[in-house]
Amino acid sequence: MGRTPLPFVRPQLPPLEDLEGPYREILSNGMVTTGLYAERLGEALRAHLGVRHAVAVSSCTTGLMLAVQALNLPRGSVAVLPSFTFMATALGAVWNGLRLHFVDVNRETMNIDPARVEEALTADTSVIIGVHQFGAPAPVEDLRRVADAKGISLLFDAAHGFGSLCQGQPLGGHGRAEVFSLSPTKLLIAAEGGVVATGEEDIATHVRLGRNYGNPGNYDCRFPGLNARMSELHAILALKSLERLEEAAANRNRAAHLYRELLRNVPGVSFQKVLENDRSSFKDFSIVVDEHAFGLTRDQLARALAAEGIHTRVYYAPVLHKMEAFRPYAGENPAAELPNTLYLESHALSLPMYSDMKEEEIERVAASLVRIQRHALPIASLNLSA
Ligand SMILES: Cc1ncc(COP(=O)(O)O)c(C=O)c1O
Repeated sequence: MGRTPLPFVRPQLPPLEDLEGPYREILSNGMVTTGLYAERLGEALRAHLGVRHAVAVSSCTTGLMLAVQALNLPRGSVAVLPSFTFMATALGAVWNGLRLHFVDVNRETMNIDPARVEEALTADTSVIIGVHQFGAPAPVEDLRRVADAKGISLLFDAAHGFGSLCQGQPLGGHGRAEVFSLSPTKLLIAAEGGVVATGEEDIATHVRLGRNYGNPGNYDCRFPGLNARMSELHAILALKSLERLEEAAANRNRAAHLYRELLRNVPGVSFQKVLENDRSSFKDFSIVVDEHAFGLTRDQLARALAAEGIHTRVYYAPVLHKMEAFRPYAGENPAAELPNTLYLESHALSLPMYSDMKEEEIERVAASLVRIQRHALPIASLNLSA
């Protein structure tokens, strides 16, 4: 169409001049890992999140592996978690020898459904893993009640959670631990990185040791840990990115509001619901496309937008219970139990969303989407390729 393509993500990174000083410092003193800046980041995030401990690690995935390990759950016991999520949500559990029981999400919030969790609990269940999907806080209080009633641990994959607010407060303090990601698609960016937030001293100590092989410093390894440290280069980037986090979250919320305004009358388009008094980080802005009312399927819409230079992403397909990696751990998970998961797998579409998204960019996406819907019939006959 002769217009600049709109990518799906556009990481907003601090300018080089903000980084030069600290990078010069670590490059000259040689402290490029396990140094002051990773500790400072932990401190800054502890204050930002309002939690007792925030431990910087190399990724959300390694953070989840160490957080689950810290709970010391019986091998072969069962983690209850959503299937409509990113693969890493399940990885921490399977690396710790747990089995998986996938439960359905609420179709509107796209988050794990506490009623389905409650039904799924058995004597073998040892942990519930919630996810704040696309940054929309999970129903934390209902999940806490369900977990507490059975004395089961509750953890959160808060990969998308920086910039979210739950009842006015940042995430991080729910369940026994919440694990965040700082990869480039997020609002707070370390290039690669994660943070384990917890109120429990023992969990924080375990993650600190575990990110360093399990070595307390005397080379007498206490348990099988990982190299999951955050380098100083990453920590510096994250500290600078933290200065812009609130602005990023506010801008994404403005963008989401405008998307909703411009698309609310489009037949067959609906939006992810954010619970009352919560704020999503809008790590992603996800719509649901009903092909009967819209005139095109989700995939046909994605291809038509791509033809106009607008790149979208399907999150999540395949959903976790269909992945080869998890089949040996999940046993039978009848599809009939996961109708909303299957519906979202084939109907949800994430539109472009950036921390520095401009109004014109939202207007361009919305105008294309509206135009595509109006011309759904001829577009359907074009059979556009992916
Ligand atoms: C829900 C969810 N959990 C975990 C992760 C893994 O994060 P990381 O890449 O920092 O390991 C991601 C990655 O985007 C994610 O979307």
